[in-house]
Amino acid sequence: MGKKFYFNAFEMNCSGHQAPGLWAHPKDRSWEYKDLDYWISLAKKLEEGFFTAIFIADVVGYYDVYKGNARAAVKSGAQIPLNDPLQLAAPIAYATKHIGIGVTASTSFEHPYTFARRIATADHYTKGRVGWNIVTSYLESGAHNVGENSLEEHDKRYEIADEYLEVIYKLLEGSWEDDAVVREREKRVFADPDKVHEIGHKGKYFEVPGIGLTEPSPQRVPVLFQASTSEAGQNFSSKHAEAVFISGPSKSHLRDVVSSIRQKAVKEGRNANDILIFDLITIIVDETDEKARSKFEEYRQYISNEGALALLSGWTGEDFGKFKPSDFVKDIDFGEGSTFIEHLTQGQDKDWTIEDVAKWVGIGGVGPTFVGSPATVADALEDWVKETDVDGFNVAYAVSHETFEDIIKYLIPELQKRGVYPTSYNEGTLREKLFGYSKLPDTHPAARYRDIEKVKKE
Ligand SMILES: Cc1cc2nc3c(=O)[nH]c(=O)nc-3n(C[C@H](O)[C@H](O)[C@H](O)COP(=O)(O)O)c2cc1C
Repeated sequence: MGKKFYFNAFEMNCSGHQAPGLWAHPKDRSWEYKDLDYWISLAKKLEEGFFTAIFIADVVGYYDVYKGNARAAVKSGAQIPLNDPLQLAAPIAYATKHIGIGVTASTSFEHPYTFARRIATADHYTKGRVGWNIVTSYLESGAHNVGENSLEEHDKRYEIADEYLEVIYKLLEGSWEDDAVVREREKRVFADPDKVHEIGHKGKYFEVPGIGLTEPSPQRVPVLFQASTSEAGQNFSSKHAEAVFISGPSKSHLRDVVSSIRQKAVKEGRNANDILIFDLITIIVDETDEKARSKFEEYRQYISNEGALALLSGWTGEDFGKFKPSDFVKDIDFGEGSTFIEHLTQGQDKDWTIEDVAKWVGIGGVGPTFVGSPATVADALEDWVKETDVDGFNVAYAVSHETFEDIIKYLIPELQKRGVYPTSYNEGTLREKLFGYSKLPDTHPAARYRDIEKVKKE
């Protein structure tokens, strides 16, 4: 029996997250993202399949690298219009019992003091079922619209994020002691001022002298997720993240990334298995291989090639609108996008055109899509886990809720039969479900800020 693995549902508060254009499919409901019923019915369904979390991606900005404007993204609905993810955490938690709610928030657009309150509030209202996907952002359009000339340079964004996390730890771990709130009615004392500490943070990027606004929440710091491929990004995630998202079309590429993240974590004084690694995939499953393949082909008719290329241009920074659909990838110098294209086309049995690239990205983004019967997909996933050592998958949809419903109906019973997938939830907070403890462990850098008075003297 192989190692047990987890599924997260990979979502975004918009239509057709990793499947631009598929909102037009008659069965798709992702365009109902503005309606809480969409999210609640999805989360309840996912709990039937023991999904660990519903993970909500986010960007501040829109995809305007393609042809130098946002028209293709807007026309095809490629991740625009887009709602705020954090507001979904409380209502989803209120309507469900176990599923975690991961929300993405960037360290490039909001001051850590206000964000600390927003995320701690979500941890209270979800009873500790919230996770934070820490991103540093990549869309220049976001920076322009908050009055900046451009995003900070790539590695500097991680340097800022590192201090951002320090502020969050100080506020959420150090400011309010566990028993600060006493609510002594007779004495009319709500909280003991001696147990509420000013954090005295004076750093290179942030100054936060005072006390945090929130009382301790069930997890204090939400479960920390992060996605990165670069050296600076991996240094950041191996220090801070409890779970890392990765993506890539081939096993060999992923195997190297996984082992590098685990090695770096050990160098940071953490255990290699303190970090769970989730890989981005899409699954199209049906009763038989034949039925699954024809469903996939039918979905592909709805892909917006322009929407896919708009997303790809934003992800890589390279304008894919410069090329003709029939241009062969092997004849083009992709500049910023070349590593990505190399990974994508590696090991393919024919020369890809730009249109082939669009069709690949159009369902599942940069991750692979597994298509087949329950046995075929289960074999492929087991093999993928064995070869790459990932701990689970961030599963994107082609058509929501149908993609998830098919997985729950066909695939999960097969995986459970093989003993490689959970058959129940652990009790408690999201961190308890994933790791068996509710607060960040002593090996995590946040732990030292619990004694904030000592830190201030150092
Ligand atoms: C599965 C997955 C999910 C991601 N989700 C987001 C997201 O929601 N928002 C975002 O701004 N970036 C997201 N990213 C991009 C990463 O934050 C990061 O920019 C990217 O992996 C490049 O890594 P680097 O920053 O180390 O260069 C995601 C990446 C992956 C692999």
